[in-house]
Amino acid sequence: MKHKNIFVACDTSNLSEIKKIIKQTRTSKLKVIPKFGLQFFYSKNGRRFLKNFKQDFWLDLKINDIPQTAVSAIDSLKDLKKCKYITVHANGGFRMLKAIKKKAKSINKDLQILAVTILTSLNNRSLKEMGHTKSVKQLVLKQAGLIKKAGCDGIVCSAQEAKMVRKKYKKLFIVTPGIRLPGDNTDDQSRIMTPNDAFKNKVSGIVIGRSLIKGNIKNNTQRLIDHLKNDQGV
Ligand code: C5P
Repeated sequence: MKHKNIFVACDTSNLSEIKKIIKQTRTSKLKVIPKFGLQFFYSKNGRRFLKNFKQDFWLDLKINDIPQTAVSAIDSLKDLKKCKYITVHANGGFRMLKAIKKKAKSINKDLQILAVTILTSLNNRSLKEMGHTKSVKQLVLKQAGLIKKAGCDGIVCSAQEAKMVRKKYKKLFIVTPGIRLPGDNTDDQSRIMTPNDAFKNKVSGIVIGRSLIKGNIKNNTQRLIDHLKNDQGV
């Protein structure tokens, strides 16, 4: 199970909660990498904490702006030495993706740019509401091609599209949020899957927030370990 990337979404602005999540999800049985999003990064102590953080992490800022502004944003993050992954929105377009990747490479060759396709909270109906005429699956596949062409390191989509993306892009790093342990609440997510089903769909890593951090974190981590041990799911 150590080869499976488990990104834990540290979604709180409370520093002691952050430390608790990191400590209580740490286990010799799993490869757990913390993911920090807008809530923590924008909080008073967030950025300072991340500057001094000693382990590799993912900064999930979902950057989406004109190329120059997006590139400058990446430049402003260069003091975060342990930041290994940064997310950007594929919606920012090819030029933005390419420019961001180029900048990231010049800062740190190990810094990986992951591009978010259609948010896992959206479904076909939400796309229609926004004026799209393509389905989630069609758009994700289209954006996967763009992400690849722009030289980005990975794609963020739901596990429901992972099989299709993997079929076409054999070596792409695919990470999937919208993950729930069996029986857990969907909350605001639309396209969800269990960890086992996601890994069956050949994802490279999964993002888990509430299924791990809500309630008793240690118990939830054990539930995840037990679930992953049981390939049939629960
Ligand atoms: O609590 P839950 O497991 O739903 O959290 C999912 C995490 O993944 C959140 O931090 C959210 O910001 C992030 N995320 C997502 N969908 C994406 C990209 C990131 O839910 N497409």
